[in-house]
Amino acid sequence: MSKKMERREFLLASTMAAAGLLIYTPKKALSSDGPGPAQTAKDPANMSLLEKKHVPVIEIPERVTKGVAFPVTVTVGEVIHPMVPEHHIEYIELMVNGKEAGKVLLQPVVNAPKVTFFITLEDSATLQVRELCNLHGLWENTKKVSLS
Ligand SMILES: [Fe+2]
Repeated sequence: MSKKMERREFLLASTMAAAGLLIYTPKKALSSDGPGPAQTAKDPANMSLLEKKHVPVIEIPERVTKGVAFPVTVTVGEVIHPMVPEHHIEYIELMVNGKEAGKVLLQPVVNAPKVTFFITLEDSATLQVRELCNLHGLWENTKKVSLS
């Protein structure tokens, strides 16, 4: 790249930054290698505000019966995460015993950071939920399901 081009791009980026048009996006959220390792609550009983806004909350019925579909509702997070263009949840995905079970892509403004999956289990299982924040990266939570 020529020096003239580099200078032009620098000036454009500087002007946009000064005008507040550049949005900070951490490398891990945009990396071509994926969002990086998932984060979770370091101490679930004493979460920081960042953790409360990002660790997915997983709700299931008290009783789950073998072979009968039941809802798995996921909310991001305990303190509802923003859904504005500059800061939002891009997707929520569910894995059952490590296998992909579903993924919902979300649009800022129109979608709330909450989805419900309906799944059927033949045995007790571990649910793993991940969500991607465009600014704060990948977050996850897990929940064990015992059949009645
Ligand atoms: Fe966030």
